[in-house]
Amino acid sequence: MSDKPILLSGIKPTGTPHIGNYFGAMKQFVEFQTIGTHDCYFMIADYHALNFIQSAGEMRELTRELILSYLAVGLNPEKVVLFKQSDVPAHTELAWIFDTITTMPYLMRAHAYKDAEAKGKEVSVGTFNYPMLMAADILLYDAAKVPVGQDQKQHIEYARDTAEKFNRTFGETFALPEEYIMPDVAIVPGTDGQKMSKSYGNTIPLFASRLEIEEAVMSIVTDSSGDRPENVYGIHKLVKSERELDSLYEEHAGKYKALKEALVEDLDAFIAPMRDRFHELSLDPEIVTETLRRGAEQANERANAKMELVRRAVGVA
Ligand code: ADP
Ligand code: TRP
Repeated sequence: MSDKPILLSGIKPTGTPHIGNYFGAMKQFVEFQTIGTHDCYFMIADYHALNFIQSAGEMRELTRELILSYLAVGLNPEKVVLFKQSDVPAHTELAWIFDTITTMPYLMRAHAYKDAEAKGKEVSVGTFNYPMLMAADILLYDAAKVPVGQDQKQHIEYARDTAEKFNRTFGETFALPEEYIMPDVAIVPGTDGQKMSKSYGNTIPLFASRLEIEEAVMSIVTDSSGDRPENVYGIHKLVKSERELDSLYEEHAGKYKALKEALVEDLDAFIAPMRDRFHELSLDPEIVTETLRRGAEQANERANAKMELVRRAVGVA
């Protein structure tokens, strides 16, 4: 442990990682590792995912895939802590304590809860309490910086409010986290032009084979209103400079098939090294357990020290 400020973020293992997850989150994680200004903790939020994935086999497979993805994109367990939420029991313990100082009306204002309610869904208690588990994830590490997408902004506010409420009730214990909204440019469009998301079935998997890339790209919806197919361009500009694209799109104006073929080439060239690394890593029978063992040890050390202070602050120790 150094005395650098802490940076913490996490991803739920709820689906096969796609290029939206890469450009919107993982790429920035690797950049933070490279800059080296913070001690970085990157989590697999499996207990959050349990709200969505309720099959043991699927949970194990998606967790394995996410840890291999973290490694394949370049996160290095010797430089950052890669860990699984459920390996650190203090997260759920602290979430319970937060539940006791949080009111129902306050949690009812959460967007995710309101959306589910509005759609007439039956909301589980786990979904309702989601922000408290996330507050615990963040506050246990005294995380100063929490890089997230725009959609998670409210959750960071919940974490800040909860830290303040705890400090007022039991004495100064938690540092207030600062949100860091990852740049908007990173909203990656899917093959149908909407935001790329596993829930919309419009993704390009991050480690897609050449054939999968071809299939996904050929399925990109194009409209014929202009010379430039915007949905193709929107993905293309992630892997090639706009200057290079300008001449390419000018040369092939109106020729959507040729532009899609160029995108297949460029995406494949971009994905291939990470895909090879992913496959190489997945042949190693120890890599996932070893990475998680190491991460669990480091995360527990910090989280347990904090939890000791919390237990004393509330009077159970
Ligand atoms: P999905 O929308 O596929 O369910 P998640 O909500 O699990 O993805 O997102 C995991 C991470 O990837 C989050 O940090 C989120 O902000 C980022 N992310 C997901 N989709 C995109 C996208 N289309 N563009 C940019 N970032 C994205
Ligand atoms: N809720 C976040 C998401 O859906 C994932 C997450 C869980 C997280 N715990 C976190 C992100 C702590 C940042 C910090 O994307």
